[in-house]
Amino acid sequence: MANPTIKKPRGTLDYIGKDAEILLGLRSLLLKEAGLYGCTPIEVPMFEENQLFHRSVGESSDIVQKETFDLKNKGDKDYTLRPEFTASVSRAVLENKLYTSPDMPLRFSYFGSVFRYERPQTGRLREFHQYGVEFMDSKIDLSSTLDAFLLSLRSAEKALGHEVEAKINFLGSFASRETYKAELKKYFTPRIDSMCDDCKRRLQINPLRILDCKVEADQEIAKGAPRVTDYLDEADKKEFEAICSSLDALGIHYEIDSELVRGLDYYTGLVWELYDASNLSLGAIGGGGKYASLMSQLGGPEFEGIGFSLGVERVLLALSDERKVEIALHIPLDLMIIDFEKKGKANRLADALRNKGKNVFIASFSRAMGGAMKMADRKGASSVLIINEDGTLQLKNMKTREQKDIKEEELLAL
Ligand code: HAM
Repeated sequence: MANPTIKKPRGTLDYIGKDAEILLGLRSLLLKEAGLYGCTPIEVPMFEENQLFHRSVGESSDIVQKETFDLKNKGDKDYTLRPEFTASVSRAVLENKLYTSPDMPLRFSYFGSVFRYERPQTGRLREFHQYGVEFMDSKIDLSSTLDAFLLSLRSAEKALGHEVEAKINFLGSFASRETYKAELKKYFTPRIDSMCDDCKRRLQINPLRILDCKVEADQEIAKGAPRVTDYLDEADKKEFEAICSSLDALGIHYEIDSELVRGLDYYTGLVWELYDASNLSLGAIGGGGKYASLMSQLGGPEFEGIGFSLGVERVLLALSDERKVEIALHIPLDLMIIDFEKKGKANRLADALRNKGKNVFIASFSRAMGGAMKMADRKGASSVLIINEDGTLQLKNMKTREQKDIKEEELLAL
């Protein structure tokens, strides 16, 4: 047969068979982990008004500058496929006035597709899944901070079946960041001529982003730049110290990385990224942080948030084959029916059995007995029901290979 001319878009994936079972298994495992921390699931639209992402993820971020999938000219508004969840969850909290709830902190978990127009490579897709949580409160206190961080770590560890590495940093308030940005500008201005075009643009819009540059020569130059932690005010320093000593008391291993700034503009305070030591080439498998001013930037009240997201495809790439088998959400097949009578009895019996909770698959009429039996083995069917041309029934136990005549009432009573 000729190759189909329509292929999936670059940077997207099909999840078929075992792969789909592993994805669903991972989804269930991760959302269950979030449930242990009192999170309830939230579903938000796959697209939003593009202003939402400009005002949250930020004009200066690569995501908004270069990577959004914009759906232009659909009605009177410009829409964008969500490149992440934090902005949408914040919008939903504002729009539904959830900040007035007496039950604080709000704790939401999510798992779904996000879209970024990036250059596809291993672990970098244009449509990928994120699992994550957002905690929100009038003030994100130490316990919410520790719980959000701990949940990210435990989620990644539960998925992978081994420990992961955490890098943390503290970005401080917007005010202390402005001072820091000014210092970065002073440092990079005399050096910018030898840096990449993106960095030249970043210097004008937000010099903080230069620290994210992936060009090696630029990274060398950035190594000599001032550190964000040198520009924290006293309150910020105290908060960071309290977090670090609490993590120490919890026995959590982490590394302070003073170059970690994250690629989204809304962060204030603690930020972190998670890495799988045996798969460092994948980049971060997850990241998160606190965002104290996002809600007010979106026109809402002073209401703070903290959260993280794991890149599901990166976690999948880091899973061992054994772990994939353990995680896969396998749907067992109780019965396969091979119907030689071809008068609809197969569907009637299947309907009755499915009503009793049995998983039943009906083989195609085009399959002969031998082929259908092989298919039953491939599909792992526990039993096969043969409906003969005269309507009589036979049941075969696929484990013992025993085959016997069976009456309809007997079958339905199984
Ligand atoms: P982020 O660091 O942009 O954070 O994305 C989170 C994770 O998504 C990354 O650590 C990475 O594993 C994965 N990821 C990012 N881009 C791609 C890609 N193109 N292909 C495959 N995986 C990718 C956020 O999105 C924030 N909303 C996290 C957060 C939640 N902060 C606070 N709350």
